[in-house]
Amino acid sequence: MPLPAETIRAKRDGRALSVAQIEGFVRGLVDRHWSEGQAAALAMAILLKGMTRAECVALTRAMANSGQVLDWSRAGLPGPVVDKHSTGGVGDKVSLVLAPIVAACGAVVPMISGRGLGHTGGTLDKLQSLAGYEIAPTRATFRRVLRDAGCAIVGASGRLAPADRRLYAIRDVTATVESVPLITASILSKKIAAGLQFLVMDVKAGNGAFCPTVAAARELAGNLVAVAATAGLPTRALVTDMNQVLGRTAGNALEMREAIDFLTGDAPREPRLEAVTLALAGEMLAITQLAPDPRAGERLARAALASGAAADRFARMVRGLGGPSNVGSPRFAGLPCTRHVIEVRAPNAGWLVAMDTRALGIVVVELGGGRAHASDPIDPRVGLSNVLPLGTRVARGEPLMRVHAASMARAEAAAARAAAALVIAGSPGAAAPVILDRVAAG
Ligand code: URA
Repeated sequence: MPLPAETIRAKRDGRALSVAQIEGFVRGLVDRHWSEGQAAALAMAILLKGMTRAECVALTRAMANSGQVLDWSRAGLPGPVVDKHSTGGVGDKVSLVLAPIVAACGAVVPMISGRGLGHTGGTLDKLQSLAGYEIAPTRATFRRVLRDAGCAIVGASGRLAPADRRLYAIRDVTATVESVPLITASILSKKIAAGLQFLVMDVKAGNGAFCPTVAAARELAGNLVAVAATAGLPTRALVTDMNQVLGRTAGNALEMREAIDFLTGDAPREPRLEAVTLALAGEMLAITQLAPDPRAGERLARAALASGAAADRFARMVRGLGGPSNVGSPRFAGLPCTRHVIEVRAPNAGWLVAMDTRALGIVVVELGGGRAHASDPIDPRVGLSNVLPLGTRVARGEPLMRVHAASMARAEAAAARAAAALVIAGSPGAAAPVILDRVAAG
């Protein structure tokens, strides 16, 4: 077996690692033959020296095969197996609405989601604002819900890609997260282990995303698509804007309310959230050949929303996983809420031209809607609602958003921090599109 120190030395000196060295590293992560210090040293060497495409494919494959690999081929599922993965943002509730839309159009979406990370929210935390929703069902329940609803959003079991689980925890505390090959292998290994046939990536770019610039997001998207193709998982990616909250809410139960209203049509859909959701749905339906192209896929997705079929899939999924049985009924009132709600008002008249989206994500975390430590409890009630989109003209004193908190004192402190994250100017800024780029295998 290659010695850890020799593998680290090779990468430190800028040499490409062999498949045997990469497989030895991944095995050592799981059986703990590699210490935390050695894994951190190699992660830092990879961050500084990079990896060739072939190395990244080998790392992805080895991590995917480091634990259980799901196989849906004999599960009797009614359509192609596809998932969407986002690199994370603020107010990003797309998964909650996209999975049932695509399921209503004939695909099967076994979506393995995560908890909030840093300033970004997590789909699992949002789902747990529904009383009784089971994020860790048995394999039999997972399969049954997929057969019945066509989608099931659940958490990853510790047995999927355990090498990534250990490496990610080490990267998180050693400033080695921001490496394109490490991010690529981390995301794709979990998707391949989940037994997907197709994947669509939503790579976010902007001040609320992990990639601050469109160029960085494009590089990551290109690498994800190319490595996934070589590893046998056909993948497309959209680069989408994260320079503002997506939709009108950020915070777990508030986002769930927005998602339910989006599906049922009980409230007008926020246009940027709708655009991202439909574009991703179009890509998922095209890559699975349920639609001839993404445009036609978008039309199918719109029809599934309009007919109520997508809302019905969502209700079936929630029921099947132990959540409330009346989630799709008009004005479902089963979400936790707080009475401590205040408005953030415009200090002067003008146009809302910028927001520090990351800072707003941190406001939500500090309100108790996210975690500072993995074991922290979440307060599902708190967060931001009625967030105005960039480009809105406002009068002095007009509400820019509402803050929902566990107490009035916390609401006031959060409102002050939220106000400091917003810029009002004397003229409208340039309107930025929400879909910034599309990357398909070359
Ligand atoms: N999300 C992941 O799953 N892994 C990374 O490395 C970064 C984001």
